[in-house]
Formats: sequence, structure tokens, C-alpha cells
Amino acid sequence: MFLRLFKRTPKSLGEVRGGDETEASKADLTGINMGDYNEVERYPLVYPWAYAVILENRASKAKVYYVSEVPLNSVERGVYERLLRILEWELKPYGGSVLDYVKEKEFFVEQARRIVRIYSAKLSDTLGPNISWQKVLYYVLRDTVGYGPLEPLMRDQFIEDISCDGVRRPIYVWHQRYESMPTNIVFEDEGELDSLILRLAHKAGKHISSAFPVLDAILPEGHRLAATFRREVSVGGSTFTIRKFRERPLSITDLIAHGTLSSTVAAYLWMAMEYKMPGIVIGVTGSGKTTMLNALATLLRPNMKVVTIEDTPELRLTLENWVQLVSRPSYAVTGSKIGEVTLYDLVKVSLRYRPDVIIVGEIRGEEAYVLFQAIATGHGGLTTAHAESVGALVKRLTSPPMNVPQSYIPLMKWALLVKRVTRIVEGRPVTVRRATTIWEIKGYENYALLATWDPVGDKHKVNLNDSMILWEVSQSIGLAYEGVVEEVKRRSRVLEALVDRGVRDYRGVAEYIYRYYVDPRGVLEELGVGGAKDG
Ligand SMILES: Nc1ncnc2c1ncn2[C@@H]1O[C@H](COP(=O)(O)OP(=O)(O)OP(=O)(O)O)[C@@H](O)[C@H]1O
Ligand SMILES: [Mg+2]
Repeated sequence: MFLRLFKRTPKSLGEVRGGDETEASKADLTGINMGDYNEVERYPLVYPWAYAVILENRASKAKVYYVSEVPLNSVERGVYERLLRILEWELKPYGGSVLDYVKEKEFFVEQARRIVRIYSAKLSDTLGPNISWQKVLYYVLRDTVGYGPLEPLMRDQFIEDISCDGVRRPIYVWHQRYESMPTNIVFEDEGELDSLILRLAHKAGKHISSAFPVLDAILPEGHRLAATFRREVSVGGSTFTIRKFRERPLSITDLIAHGTLSSTVAAYLWMAMEYKMPGIVIGVTGSGKTTMLNALATLLRPNMKVVTIEDTPELRLTLENWVQLVSRPSYAVTGSKIGEVTLYDLVKVSLRYRPDVIIVGEIRGEEAYVLFQAIATGHGGLTTAHAESVGALVKRLTSPPMNVPQSYIPLMKWALLVKRVTRIVEGRPVTVRRATTIWEIKGYENYALLATWDPVGDKHKVNLNDSMILWEVSQSIGLAYEGVVEEVKRRSRVLEALVDRGVRDYRGVAEYIYRYYVDPRGVLEELGVGGAKDG
């Protein structure tokens, strides 16, 4: 599986500069006229071989992401080529399950290390001291089990997206601190870019070709890949976008700590989750909808049965009783959609699983109608959609291809808008995500504001005095409205205490949430936030 290699150009192996042995941390920035730039920051990506250097243009203030990799000298390059040939012959196939990607990768890395050890012992005398075997090994692993020239970017925890708009254009990254920036990585050669796309498709276990030039897939580590091949559908040649997968998904306490939500808003949504109040997260591309949906799902009761339905499997739940369904594109060459399984098909079949809650990653088409039907028959439902306001959402829902009847609209009881907004922090603009508005949907074109975000004080204003959802909770459990509001406040203190204690890992957070469901007093006591649960 791994030895599908990148087409390698001398540039992709670092510029040869007279056999120098400079570490990447000190390497000068080839091709960049440093007179035009200030260095903002430099940090290791793969120590000591690859560094990220953030540069700022002195005149325009535009930032550039420079990947600095230690170049191979000519002797090392020869060894590198030779090692790759040897590996092609000597690598043993992995005997374990092809599904166990991590073990398979470890297996190849171990073999590659062993082969490099054997050959370095044999060749060191003839090649002399002017060779760093560790550096060669870095490139060998980068180009066999890694992502080739993209490997340093894949290792950068601050990068959310990596995208390529075509050949001879810089790769762009979306950096958590500096936002969108061009990088110094450019595919000058169409063959090299096409080979990378083939390799990415191969890694994802999928196929891309001139006949099937569009791909939407998940890479083995969970990164989401979208790609087009050659000039079939993209004028500038092959393109791709990788949405990097966070090893650790953002938890509800992360979102509170980041200021995306206030603890009161989160506690209110926790009540909504507990009582299966259907809701929808809206926003534009990359605003954080899936992240919000995932964090909210940990607030569901632990014994609920949940079915998730997605085009690409992004959600990670902590619930035991969770069925994850993923749609499948058609295999057909002709117009007929042979073998295709759509979100619509999956939402229909999910009802047979008797789920408490159906979560659809994103609604776009006719699956919306089935989801609303499911909600109408008593299932909980959570989903996301591209829309910038509840008004725009309802317009989309009630128009083709979703065609949700107007009378169904209030079945979705709340809508939450997430936005990427720019704030000035310590004199510098930074992009943050904020849940800017939460509506309760009382009827078609009848929406009440539950919470809004105030950009001036960076605070959420919440009105719990007149909530339809809390009133419905009060009715269903026979507890006075004020008691329900008290409970929201108590949960808000629980969430704050978790933030204060640094309980941020989503599994750790889920443990507290689940314990709170069975033993609220115990959790309140442990966290020292007082006020036992009524009833
Ligand atoms: N509240 C947040 N704080 C910090 N980072 C966030 C937050 N929400 C999302 N992100 C990051 O932003 C990126 C995009 O998030 P996400 O995939 O949730 O967006 P989306 O709206 O679902 O995008 P798409 O429309 O492409 O599906 C991810 O890398 C995610 O880790
Ligand atoms: Mg999403």
C-alpha cells in the first residue's frame, strides 16, 4: 500500500546548496528576498529537519508560510534514490488487517529503519562522513509513508486546511493564528501534482482518474480530502483541499474556554440535548458547524441510541450505543447511479434502528425532508446546514431540493449560527469562532432570540426568562419553570468548574456529563459548585 511514491523533482528534496549541513532551524530561505520580509515566528515541524517560518511582507503586511526543510546534498540524494529502490524490493507486505492503518504504518516505518540501518553500516565507509543518515531517513519516510512535500504541513498542529488551486500556484494553508497564507510549496510540474493526487486517493483507498475526476474521501488519519484530477473539471489542472482532522476533537469545555459559547448557552443546549429537542447548527463553510455539532453530541444522555449519517465520517461520539452510517457514491460509468447510497437512503434506513437521535452531518437535499419526518414521529434530530441566518435557512429548507413543508419548520426547535469573526487582541487582528445567535423556532417565520453575542464586550447575552424549550422541559418533567432555569444555571457552573479544572479532553468531559446524569449531587460536590439538583 505504501510504496506508491511521489514523483520527485530536485526541488521537492530541498535545493542542493553545495552539500551544506545547515539545520533547517537555521537554513536561509531560498527564493525569498529577506529584505522584503520580517520573520514573525519560527517553530519546528519535524525536529530538526523541517521548520515553519512565518514571514511578513514589510510593505503589504501580507504573511507567507515558509516550509524550511534541510536539503539533501548530492551524496545524500544518491543514497536516498538507492534506498527507495531497495525498499521497493525488500519491503515485506503487511500481514495484519488492512483496516489497522496505525499498525501497518508502524510496520513499514520499522522495516524502513532497519533497512536504512543495514545499508548505512555497509555504505558508511565508502561514502565518508559527509552524509546524515537520519536526514535521509526523514526524506525516505516522508516520501513513502508520509505525505511527500506536504508532510511538514500535515505535521503543523496550527494548520486547519491545506489547499492547492492548481499547478504553478502556491499551496495555501489556513493557520489558526495567521489565517489564510500562501506557502513556498508550489507544484511546478503537472505530473508531480497529478502523482500527489493519485497518491492521496490511494491512501484514502479511493480512485481518481480522467474518467472519475472528482473525489471526496477520508484519509487514513481522518483528514477530509476533496480533489479534482487533471484538467477534466478544473481549468488550472489538478486541485485538492485537505481539512485536517484534529487528533483531539474540540469539546464543549474547549468551546467555552475559547469563548465560542458561554457556559450558560452551553448549559441551555445541554438541557435541549437531554430532552431530545431537535436543532440545527448553521454557518458558512469552515465556520465550525461540524465541530459544534460534535461537541453538543457529548451532552446527550449516555444511554441514548444515536445514528449518525454523513457523506464523510467526521463525527466522533463518546456514546456506547452509536451507529455510524456513511453515504457511498455511485460506481456507474453510465448515467444510472448503480450502487449509490445517498444520505436520503441512509436517513430512511436509520429509522429501522429505532434511534433516540438521528444526527445528519449536513443537510443539502431531499434527506432534509426525511429527517423532518423522522422528527415528526418523535425522534430527536441534530444537523447542520449552510445558511447565514434562520430566515435564509428556512427559505432553503422550504425550497427545492429540500422541500420541507412550512408546517414542519417548528419541529426543529432551535437554530445556532456559528461565525468566524475577527477580533483585535493585543493590537493584532485574530480570527475566532463565535456562536453569534441562537434562535428558538416557534413557528414558520416566528423565531425568538434566545442568545446573541455582543462583539463589543465579547460576551453572550442570554435570556432564559421566556424560553419555549425550557417551558416544554418544565411541562414534560413536571418541574416549575424557575426550577428548570435553576438547573440550567447549575449546569452552567458545572461546565465552568470543568473549564477551570482544565477538563478539556472530549472523553474526560463526557465522563463528567455522564456521571452528572446519574449522580448530579456527587458531581456538584466533587466540583464544589453547590446546589444539589431539584427533585
Ligand atoms: N470554536 C472553534 N474554535 C477553534 N477552532 C475551531 C472552532 N470550530 C471549528 N474550528 C476549526 O475550524 C475548522 C473548520 O471547522 P468545521 O469542520 O467544524 O467547520 P464546518 O463549518 O463544518 O466546515 P464545512 O462547511 O467545510 O463542513 C476545523 O479545523 C476546526 O478544528
Ligand atoms: Mg462540516
